[in-house]
Formats: sequence, C-alpha cells, structure tokens
Amino acid sequence: MELAQTIFLPLCLCLMFLIAQQTLLVSAAHKRQKHHPIKLFVFGDSLADTGNSPNDPNAPIHPWEYPFGITFPGKPTGRFSDGRVLTDFVAEFIRLKSPTPYRLRTMGVKKPTKYGMNFAHGGTGVLDGYVAPNMTTQIDFFQQLVDESVFKPKHLRKSVALIVLAGNDYGFYAALHHSYEIPQSFMESVVNQLTMDLKRLYDLGVKRVAVTTLPPMGCSSAFTSPLHKTCNEFVNAEAAVHNLLLQKAVAKLNKETQNSFIILDLYASFRSVFKNKGDRLGSIKFENPLKPCVLGEPWVVNKTTGVKKYTVCEDPKSTFFWDNAHPTQQGWRAVCLNLQATLGQLYYF
Ligand SMILES: *[C@@H]1O[C@H](CO)[C@@H](O)[C@H](O)[C@H]1NC(C)=O
Ligand SMILES: *[C@@H]1O[C@H](CO)[C@@H](O)[C@H](O)[C@H]1NC(C)=O
Repeated sequence: MELAQTIFLPLCLCLMFLIAQQTLLVSAAHKRQKHHPIKLFVFGDSLADTGNSPNDPNAPIHPWEYPFGITFPGKPTGRFSDGRVLTDFVAEFIRLKSPTPYRLRTMGVKKPTKYGMNFAHGGTGVLDGYVAPNMTTQIDFFQQLVDESVFKPKHLRKSVALIVLAGNDYGFYAALHHSYEIPQSFMESVVNQLTMDLKRLYDLGVKRVAVTTLPPMGCSSAFTSPLHKTCNEFVNAEAAVHNLLLQKAVAKLNKETQNSFIILDLYASFRSVFKNKGDRLGSIKFENPLKPCVLGEPWVVNKTTGVKKYTVCEDPKSTFFWDNAHPTQQGWRAVCLNLQATLGQLYYF
C-alpha cells in the first residue's frame, strides 16, 4: 500500500508536468497555426454523396442495400462505396464530422447543420441530372438556407465549399449521342457553368472553394472490363481537356478573388495510385488497382430467378475500385493521402 503510494505520487506529478508542458507547446503552436474551417458544404455527384440519393428500386445502383457500407459503418448509408467516400475524408482532414446530407436534415439528426451540409447527389451534372438535382439546384437549396439565416455570413466566411464531379454531364452526352467523342464546345459550356457555380458559392460568402478535377474515368472498370489491364486513354484525354479548361477558369477566378479557389486534383491523384499500386508513400497497396471488388455485371439481378449477375470480393480493402465507377473506402484513403498538401490549403489563417 505504502509502496504503491510512493511510486504513484511522483509518477502522477511527472505526468502532470508533462501534460502542462504539452499544453504550453500546443497553445504556442496554435498562435502560429492555421485554423480549421468551421463548416463544410459539399456539392456534386456520387463521389461525394453520403445519403441524398433516395432508396429507389428503379435506380441502376442501390446504395441503400447490401453490400454497400459493409466496411463502414457495416450497413448501407446511401454512400456509393463499401465505406467512407471523399466527403468523409475531406471532413476528417479539416477536423470536422462528415456534414449531414441535405435530404436527411429533418430525419431526427441532432444538430444537422453543425458541421455544414452535404448537397451532393448521385447522378448529378452541372447541366443536367437525370433524376438528380443538378449543381444549380443544389446551390439553390444551399442559398435558401443562407436566406433563412440557418447559415450566417460570419460562419460562411470561415467555411469550405467542396465541389466534386466525376463527369456525368459527359456520360449523359455520350449516351445521347452514342459516342464518347465530346466536342470541345460542349466541354466549354460545362466548364463555363461550373465556373459560374464556383463564383456563386463565393458570392454567397464561402471564402474557400475547392473543386475537383475529373478523375481518369477511362481507368474505371466500365472501360477496363473484362481484363482490367489497361485504361481507355481516349476517355482520359477528354477528362484532361476538361481539367485544363477548369484550371484556366480557376486561375482567372483566383486573380479576381485573392486566391479563394483551390483545385483538388483527383486526376493526378488517381493516376498516381494506379502507377504506384497504392498511395505515394506506400502505406496502402493494391495488387491490381484497376480490378474492382464487384465483378460481373455490377448490381444486375435476373428479375425472374433473383440470381445476381455479379460477385463481391472478400476483402474490399484490397481493391481500389468498388464497382464500375466508384472507389472503395481504401481507394479514397489512398487518393486523399496523395492530396494532403492541397487539403492543407483548406485551413484558414
Ligand atoms: C438545372 O435543373 C433545373 C431544374 O431541372 C433546370 O431548370 C436548369 O436549367 C438546370 N440548370 C442548368 C444550368 O442546366
Ligand atoms: C434469367 O434466368 C432465366 C433462367 O436461367 C433465363 O432463362 C433468363 O434468360 C434470364 N433472364 C435474363 C434477363 O438474363
């Protein structure tokens, strides 16, 4: 008993000293440090959706059904993945919880606006969204909440907007014209609309606006099946043209606004993962990053027999892609590890 006390007391004091020293160090660093944004507002498509797509039995993909969400949180949440998606990783990086999906804000979520809001909806484009609200409509939803003072200017000034697009506008165009050849004039109209959307978010009061480049969708399983060995470089080259137009537009916006706009280069980050078979530093490995977890005809079920025309891999942590178009949680983690330097720019001084 006595012995225990004599050991315990100095240990305790020593710990207190260490803790005090730590606190001093932390507060000293804090003065020089940037501050994390207080809210995150997300717009875009299935790469960023965390629950806005309704449970629609007629939709081609059913993110509210098994096996979506098997890795996190262990059940479907409307995310187009086995687990966390880009939104969740960006939120974590800026030390926020993932913002509540707009559609679920009235469904019993506690303090649904605390961390911002996610308006992203699977299937969205900047021009059209078949059944999904397009980018303009998503920003309309946001503006309505700003008009109602749910989000106040003093909050918006220290918040981040994230715009995530995988290229649905081009997918719709290709389907309509039965060709993957996208005229430059159409790309210009997409980027022009996107640029207006970015400026609109800035004008609404959000002073950090991040936009993603199109990922190399020519490397998604839709284009690499059945061998999953080589990407469709024609499709990737078109994404690169869009990205170049976007970079020019953002550079122009930045001249007008003291560098408020940031490009999150998904294209380069995905490419780097494919080349390195993992993240840049080698903490994550994928044996074949082009081979998805879900093989066969993703999400197709024979309506008469109920037999699935696809298989789901045993360990989604071992694959970069989840299905035809969407990364797994581990895929997104690798992408975001590559983006850390850029994500750091989301912090405020
Ligand atoms: C977005 O969708 C709305 C509603 O369907 C439509 O009226 C509008 O024209 C679309 N916006 C663009 C830029 O195409
Ligand atoms: C569904 O399965 C049945 C029985 O195997 C087969 O005859 C039918 O062609 C299948 N339907 C489709 C759309 O593949």
